[in-house]
Amino acid sequence: METFGRRVIRDHFPQQHREFYHQLPFLFTGHSDSSGQVWASILCGEPGFISTPDEYHIQINTKPLPGDPLAESLSTGLKVGFLGIELATRRRNRFSATLNQKSKAGFELTIDQTFGNCPQYIQSRSIKVRAVQPTIAIERFTYFDEATMALIAQADTFFVASHSGEAVAGQASGADVSHRGGKPGFVRIDDKKTLTIPDYLGNNHFNTLGNFQVNSAAGLLFIDFERGDVISLTGHAEILWQESDIEHFQGAERAWQFKVTRLVRMKGVLPFVFDFDNYASTTEITGTWLAAEAQKQSHKNLHTWQDYRLVKVEQESRNVKAFYLSPVSGVKPTFEAGQFLTLKTDVDGQPQIRTYTLACSPHDEHYRIAIKRETNGVFSNYMHYELAVGDIIECKAPRGGFVIDPLEQRPAILLAGGIGITPILSMARHCILDTTRTRHLRELYVFCSARTPQERSFYDELNQLADRSKGLMKVYWVLSDPQDAQPGLDYQVQGRLNAEVLKAALRLDNYQVFICGPQTYMQSMYDMCLALGINDNNIFAEAFGSGAIARQTEQSNQPAVIDAEQALVTFEKSQVEQEWTPDQGSLLEFAEQHGLAPDFGCRNGSCGSCVVKKKAGSVNYSQQPQCDFDNENEVVLCCARPAASNDSGLVEVTIDC
Ligand code: FES
Repeated sequence: METFGRRVIRDHFPQQHREFYHQLPFLFTGHSDSSGQVWASILCGEPGFISTPDEYHIQINTKPLPGDPLAESLSTGLKVGFLGIELATRRRNRFSATLNQKSKAGFELTIDQTFGNCPQYIQSRSIKVRAVQPTIAIERFTYFDEATMALIAQADTFFVASHSGEAVAGQASGADVSHRGGKPGFVRIDDKKTLTIPDYLGNNHFNTLGNFQVNSAAGLLFIDFERGDVISLTGHAEILWQESDIEHFQGAERAWQFKVTRLVRMKGVLPFVFDFDNYASTTEITGTWLAAEAQKQSHKNLHTWQDYRLVKVEQESRNVKAFYLSPVSGVKPTFEAGQFLTLKTDVDGQPQIRTYTLACSPHDEHYRIAIKRETNGVFSNYMHYELAVGDIIECKAPRGGFVIDPLEQRPAILLAGGIGITPILSMARHCILDTTRTRHLRELYVFCSARTPQERSFYDELNQLADRSKGLMKVYWVLSDPQDAQPGLDYQVQGRLNAEVLKAALRLDNYQVFICGPQTYMQSMYDMCLALGINDNNIFAEAFGSGAIARQTEQSNQPAVIDAEQALVTFEKSQVEQEWTPDQGSLLEFAEQHGLAPDFGCRNGSCGSCVVKKKAGSVNYSQQPQCDFDNENEVVLCCARPAASNDSGLVEVTIDC
C-alpha cells in the first residue's frame, strides 16, 4: 500500500489535472469546523471559477452555498479535501490543500496532495443550467426529517467527508471527501438518526475508512439532482467489521454506520439540475439492503425446492441446449462460480432429480445450465423436448465445493472435457467479469476438449471472454476429430490433451487446476497434472454424475471407522423403523427397499441431493462424500452406512427422513 501510495500521490497538479479543474462548474469539499464537526459541501460557479496560478496552488473564486457550514470555517490554515468530478463522463480527481488567504472573490490554497480516483459506482448525469432560480430555503434538524428520509431512500449517490483528526500529523493529516454510489436503496435508514452503508471495493486508498479509524467525525452530502436541493449531514461514523447482513449484500465487502447530530437542508441552492443518464457498470453488479434481506431469507430455504421459470432456451451445439431459469419468487440465491443447481420434475409419473452445473457468472441475471441430450436420457430428453419457455420446474439453490476464487494470485488451469465445460465457463466468466469490480484479473489457461467442432459448446463465448481479458486468459480448443476446422484458427490441438501440450503452453509456475468432464477424462487429466508435479491439494475436480477420481493422497493416521454388523435404523418423518444389515447397502438403498423415496441425484456423494439431518447415531462412509454437508449433524444417504459402535450395545441410527 505504501509503495502504491508513493507512486500515485503527488504534491502538485500535472497539466491535465489543471485543465480538468478549470472547466468544472462545481467541486466537492470536506472539512472539519472549529468544533471538530466534519462537513461535506459543494462549491459552484461558472466554468473557470477554479484556476491554478501554478501547479502548487489553486484559486477558487466563489462563495459557499447559502446555509453551507463551510462559510464559517474558511480561514487561513484550514485543511480542505476536494473532489473534482464530471458526472457525465465519470472523470474525477482528488486533492487536499491548505487555505492561504481569502479575498473578496474567493480563496487561495496550497496543494498538499493530489491523487487519481477510480470511476467505479459513479452514475452518469448530464448537467442542466436552471432557467429560473427557485426560492432558496434553509432548514435545520438534528435528525432525518421525512423529506430527508425520502431522498436518502432513493439516493444512488452521495459524498462523504472525513478528517484525520488531531492525533495524526504530517502528510497523512487533513480532510478528505469522496464519492459513494450504488443502486437506489443502498443506503439503509435504520432510524431517524442512523444510516448503514455498504462498503464496496474502491481505489484501495482507504482514505475514508482510514480516517474513520482514527476520527469518527464524518459529513455526508446528498443531492436532489432533479430539484437542485442539497442536504448536508454531520455526525459520527463507525466501521462495522462484523455486520452480519453484509454477507448477503451483493458486492459489499463491509459496512459502516453513520449517526447524525446536525442536518442542514438547502432548498433550491444549486444553480443547475441534472438528468440521469445511466448507472455505472460496477453499480449494476451491486445489491440493495432490500435484496440483501431477501437473500438472507432465501438462504433459510436453501435446502427446499423452489419454483423456477424457464425464461429462454438456446441451442449451444449439435446436442447441447442452454436453459435460462429464473426463480418465481424473484430472489435468485447467490452462488459461487462452479456450483451446480439441482432440478426435479416428474416424467411419466416418476420423480426425477438431476444436478447440472451453472454455466453463468454469479452476476448474470438468470441461472443458466447446459444440458447435453442423451439418447436414452429421461431427464435430458424432457428438458430438450418437453419443458417450454414459461414453464415451471422445481430447483434447489446452487451448492457444491468445486469453486474458484477470482482473487487468488496463482494462475489457474481450467480443463474441460465435453459438457464439463459448464463449470469451467462459469469460472472463466466470473473471473473476467468480476475484474470490473475487483480490478484483479486472475491468469487463466483454459483447455476445452471435444470430439468434433459441432460438438463443442460456448465456443464464441469463451473466445470473446479471452478477447476481453487483455491477454490474461488463454483458450485452447482441443479436437480429437477436427474434420474441416482450420488448425490454429478454429482449434489449437488435435487429438487428446497431453503433458507435452500443457508444457508447451504453460510456463513453470504454481498453478491451481480445475477439471470437469467424463470420469475417464478427469482421471487422465488428474494423473497428468500429478505427473507434471502439481500437488494433489491444488487439483480440484467436479465429479457429479460420473464418479469421483481416484486421488493419490497421504494416508490418514485416524483409526478407520467400520460398518456396523447390524443396526436399527429409524426414518423419523416416515415413521419407519427397520433392521439394517451390510448386504442392504447404503441408507439410500435401504430406504428405497422399505418403500421410501428420499431425494437423490448422483448417488455417489457429489451432488448433495440426498443430504438429510441426522438425529442420533453415527454413520460410516466407505468413500468420503465430496458434496457440502455438516458431518456432525447431517447424513449423505447415498454413501452412508451405520457405523460400528465402540461398545457392544445395539447400533441405532435415526435420521430426519
Ligand atoms: S445423491 Fe448425490 S450426494 Fe447422494
